Amino acid sequence: MAILIKTPEQIEGIRQSSRLAANTLKMIEGYIKEGISTGYLDRLMEEYMRDHGAVPATLGYHGYPKSSCISLNEVVCHGIPSNDTVLKPGDIFNIDVTTILNGYYGDTSKMYTVGEVSPAALRLIDVTRHSLDLGIQQVRPGNKFGNIGHVIGQFVRSKGFSVVYEFCGHGVGIEFHEEPQVEHSARRNSGAVMKPGMTFTIEPMINEGKPRTKIDKDDGWTARTIDGKISAQFEHTVLVTQTGVEILTLPDE
Ligand code: MF3
Ligand code: CO
Ligand code: CO
Repeated sequence: MAILIKTPEQIEGIRQSSRLAANTLKMIEGYIKEGISTGYLDRLMEEYMRDHGAVPATLGYHGYPKSSCISLNEVVCHGIPSNDTVLKPGDIFNIDVTTILNGYYGDTSKMYTVGEVSPAALRLIDVTRHSLDLGIQQVRPGNKFGNIGHVIGQFVRSKGFSVVYEFCGHGVGIEFHEEPQVEHSARRNSGAVMKPGMTFTIEPMINEGKPRTKIDKDDGWTARTIDGKISAQFEHTVLVTQTGVEILTLPDE
């Protein structure tokens, strides 16, 4: 399978789905506080997506049981929302939502904090957000996918953190996970060439300690750092335009 070039009509569909995914994250921000469970946040987001004509892409995806992923502290990704997981002061966490609207996929995630958070955790979050920005700045026709991972990897390591390599960004839009795999640590000028009409995610997972992850045996999903240190992630869906990049997962202002 080659990397899909989307038609203008498909791009408009992906744009609308992506905006709804971003609006879902914006909506949930107002509910985040100490004492709230991640299961409750998941239900609110599912309701919001359905009220806006979409379905959550994660629900039933390879058997995944919920409408979002909510990954706390040392959980790298694919944390399963639960009524038993209750937010407490000092927590940092990622919420990742993917919408299917009129058949089109939009995928985005960001970090949230509860109460007062350690300076080290805030630094990890800042570095991760900036690494995504640097990756997005590499998106333009003619550039190589490897340069996204190259700039992210260089920056993150210069700050003393590590890049998770066991999970990647991905083509998205017509399917949830399309070609190519977008690596967040890569050799300069490696990989395929970006072309107008490609849509894909960039979603660096950055660890305070070692890059390796392990998946919980009991649920088969929750990916944790092997050393128990914290992890952060931000994700956008982007479009390669004729001249550069359009970030599709921005909320209405
Ligand atoms: N949204 C995740 C991504 O960014 C994928 C979640 S798949 C699930 O690719 F099954 F874990 F929900
Ligand atoms: Co994704
Ligand atoms: Co995602």
